[in-house]
Amino acid sequence: MEKLDSLVSEARDAFDKVTELTQLDQVKARFLGKGGVLTQLRKGLGQLTPEERPKAGARFNEVKGAIEQLLSDRRDVIQAEALVRRLERERLDVTLPGRDIAGGGLHPVTRTLERVTRLCQSMGFDVADGPEIETDYYNFSALNQPEDHPARSMHDTFYIEGLKHLLRTHTSPIQIHYMEQHRPPIRVISPGRVYRVDSDATHSPMFHQLEGLWVDETTTFSDLKGVVREFLRNFFEMEDLEVRFRPSYFPFTEPSAEIDMSFRDGWLEIGGCGMVHPQVLRNVDIDPDRYQGFAFGMGLDRLAMLRYGVNDLRLFFEGDLRFLRQFA
Ligand code: DAH
Repeated sequence: MEKLDSLVSEARDAFDKVTELTQLDQVKARFLGKGGVLTQLRKGLGQLTPEERPKAGARFNEVKGAIEQLLSDRRDVIQAEALVRRLERERLDVTLPGRDIAGGGLHPVTRTLERVTRLCQSMGFDVADGPEIETDYYNFSALNQPEDHPARSMHDTFYIEGLKHLLRTHTSPIQIHYMEQHRPPIRVISPGRVYRVDSDATHSPMFHQLEGLWVDETTTFSDLKGVVREFLRNFFEMEDLEVRFRPSYFPFTEPSAEIDMSFRDGWLEIGGCGMVHPQVLRNVDIDPDRYQGFAFGMGLDRLAMLRYGVNDLRLFFEGDLRFLRQFA
């Protein structure tokens, strides 16, 4: 029985030495397991006299309960300590600044395109698109440029599939697509990519144009001048920007003009324009005796170069981030 008395402190010492749950189970077996000390002692109870037995039995139960309690307390402590260690190890420093995801930016030509589109929409223009791979008909013939017309040589064209298809050389074919689907009054702009066999500091084999078309019963050349001038003044945010119309030739307009704008001490060509040729209207079944209108085409990249002060067109298409980041 004396053994019982020292057993509690012996168990406490043993449990206290343990720092891992797995070890705790082994120590538990030593005291409370089938072959453990307590089981042995319980067997010993049978050898006592009936008088001694109840007291000893009660004492035994007391000791067993105390050891079980010690065990469970120790288990709690070990688990709590493990949790503290784990929290320490896996601590997140929420005050650390996050890693930046580099934000993308819009390409300067895209920015220009969006700006131009917004401006024209505010002036009442619809916005239309068209295919970049065109047929000869839309790119040339319907625009009053028959096969043997010398004006075709103005465009160095990328032909594909045995001359039946080509990469559009200008956005003017969108005029035809649009007029095939809409009746006057027509007021539309079409920005887009165009292609020509051309490459130097001011020409790229792929570039962008902005096409404009306005057809109604009484549309005049002075409307054309007003719209173009208003558009350019708004685009460049320069109220005193001068615009000049220089007589020129395009097969799909008559009369035709080059659009020049005042720039530094001189003039800079920015596009072409004119009154839609009656034959072009006839080609889309619009009666030229009732309707008339104007069209214009401008270089979007040109507009972007001027607005941002870029002097080499090729910079726009080389994809050099040092250049592009300046616009983001
Ligand atoms: N398509 C012509 C070109 O690329 C530009 C142009 C001139 C468009 C006169 C027009 C226009 O709509 O009326 O050279």
